Amino acid sequence: MTAPTKTPSVLLIVGGGIAAYKSLELIRLLRGAEIGVRTVLTEAGSRFVTPLSLAALSGEKVFQDLFSLTDETEMGHIELSRSADLVVVAPATADLLAKAAHGLANDLASTLLLASDKPILAAPAMNVRMWEHPATRRNHAQLATDGMKFIGPHEGPMACGEFGFGRMAEATEIFDAIGRFFARGSGQNGVLAGKRVVITAGPTHEPIDPVRFIANRSSGKQGYAIARAAHAAGAEVVLVSGPVDLPSPEGVHVLRVESARDMAAAVEDSLPCDIFIAAAAVADWRVARDHGEKIKKDGKGPPALKLVENPDILAEVSRRDRNRPALVVGFAAETEKLVEHARQKLARKGCDLIVANDVSASAGVMGGDENTMVIVTPEGETAWPKLSKDAAAARLIELTASLLLGERR
Ligand code: CTP
Repeated sequence: MTAPTKTPSVLLIVGGGIAAYKSLELIRLLRGAEIGVRTVLTEAGSRFVTPLSLAALSGEKVFQDLFSLTDETEMGHIELSRSADLVVVAPATADLLAKAAHGLANDLASTLLLASDKPILAAPAMNVRMWEHPATRRNHAQLATDGMKFIGPHEGPMACGEFGFGRMAEATEIFDAIGRFFARGSGQNGVLAGKRVVITAGPTHEPIDPVRFIANRSSGKQGYAIARAAHAAGAEVVLVSGPVDLPSPEGVHVLRVESARDMAAAVEDSLPCDIFIAAAAVADWRVARDHGEKIKKDGKGPPALKLVENPDILAEVSRRDRNRPALVVGFAAETEKLVEHARQKLARKGCDLIVANDVSASAGVMGGDENTMVIVTPEGETAWPKLSKDAAAARLIELTASLLLGERR
């Protein structure tokens, strides 16, 4: 792992489970990579590992008590909850997850999880029945929706003698996930450093005459968020944008276009690239005749507009013989049969992945700040929870990076 310039730090909450011994190894790995670690040990956790082991490995004081007078005067629990760049919970027990899902704060660990303004990565570890219990399923889903990230648990034999999901991820896996977290968003060290990403966004305007045009309701927000996320991940980003009311993202090369044909030409000029993401709501049709002058009412009724099909930018990029990007991502805006239609689009357009969106008016995606994505690939589909467009963009960029780098997760 390459350590970024600012020394990153982790607040590690060790819950009460037999897997707590793996946290000792995790601390060793983090210290080896020059990542600072401060530990919090729950009452149950202290039955499995000692504060002395954690202190010796981390080289830092171990925090255990919410009401400790000495701890509070040295560093208050609110300050502690925000002192690190990332909070890691390993093992994340059923009890800790339940408390976090319900916002309980009756000990130091749960208070820190509630008070923290930092991203949280949890490595669950528990008996398979506990993991599969509807209560834990609910808590897990709620926490994922709230933005908590998870690693594991894995399937396998457990210390209790049963077999199934519940084994905590290995220390090395958690360490790698932490490494990816710190690499992301750190420019030159980002997961997409050295890669070129071309993104289309927004609607297109198809002229009827010099003053009128055909348009759609795309705001461009999701495409712009993807461009920002790709830039934050270290990529060189070209954003080919239809007419939108959004500022150019910093560090991104923005090509502003009007029509589908302009957009197709700008994309062509921007190739080759490693990843192409077609987030634009390209008009499928344009007016056949180029009306050079404003169409006037001539008393013979409304004009008949003959439409012809626009170039399909996504399909053309996907089917290129030369310079086809290694990864081509399309969007499918649907109001019904979401996955079925997305799967048909995946095959028809020849892309590698389709992000399916429910754009029915009730979903509020068009123009809104949130999105519920279903990721459709030839292998299957995964429904993501409702996320802010920024969070969805970051997750999509993380996924494309891992697909590009051959690390299917
Ligand atoms: N797309 C494109 N060029 C077009 C039309 C669409 O690049 N001329 C891309 C969009 O950016 C998006 C995907 O193709 O990634 C959407 O496909 P499309 O078939 O246009 O989907 P819908 O607009 O949802 O159309 P429909 O369901 O009516 O087929």
